[in-house]
Amino acid sequence: MNALIAYHSDYGNTKKMAEAIAAGMKASQTDISIQLKSAEHTTLNDLSDADVIVFGTPVHMGSMAWPLKKLIDQAGKLWMDGSLEGKVAGVFASGGGFGGAGGGVEQTMVSLYSNFLEHGMLVIGFPKSLPGYADGGLQWGPYGRSANHQGMPSQISDASLVAARSYGAHLAETTARIIR
Ligand SMILES: Cc1cc2nc3c(=O)[nH]c(=O)nc-3n(C[C@H](O)[C@H](O)[C@H](O)COP(=O)(O)O)c2cc1C
Repeated sequence: MNALIAYHSDYGNTKKMAEAIAAGMKASQTDISIQLKSAEHTTLNDLSDADVIVFGTPVHMGSMAWPLKKLIDQAGKLWMDGSLEGKVAGVFASGGGFGGAGGGVEQTMVSLYSNFLEHGMLVIGFPKSLPGYADGGLQWGPYGRSANHQGMPSQISDASLVAARSYGAHLAETTARIIR
């Protein structure tokens, strides 16, 4: 089975989450080949070849970063012929989160799911029973908060990387069951 993790990251937080998701997939009890790519370097063939596609983004002004949106708009061509139908999808995000209410992360993740659903894909959220959920989980997927209490840049926590890792394993194992 083929997995594609496509993400954007300016300062490395979302990239760390992408790598943790890949590590979780690799550690899963599945036969999986993983492509980890920046959104800019992701091609439409990469999307067509994957059984499971995971998109990750920092929150930028309450929504996704433009390089990921550019990829999504380019992939409109794949909507025409339905080539992503039936594939599995997941999402993750990192954000400053200043103010305690997420700074737009949920809207960002839901809009990624909205795109996947438009393609007829099967979306897989993040069950609360998985490791890391309490600190780095949302029902949509793992979330790393990178700002401190003054709203200044800090780093995402190790706990959010635990969440990303367990989500990666969950996506791999769920996809394996679906495409069997
Ligand atoms: C242009 C810009 C806009 C941002 N807007 C938001 C926002 O609306 N909400 C939020 O929670 N964080 C916002 N942030 C903070 C980033 O989402 C956060 O620092 C994230 O962890 C960066 O991820 P990266 O290290 O992968 O680039 C913004 C950062 C930038 C550069």
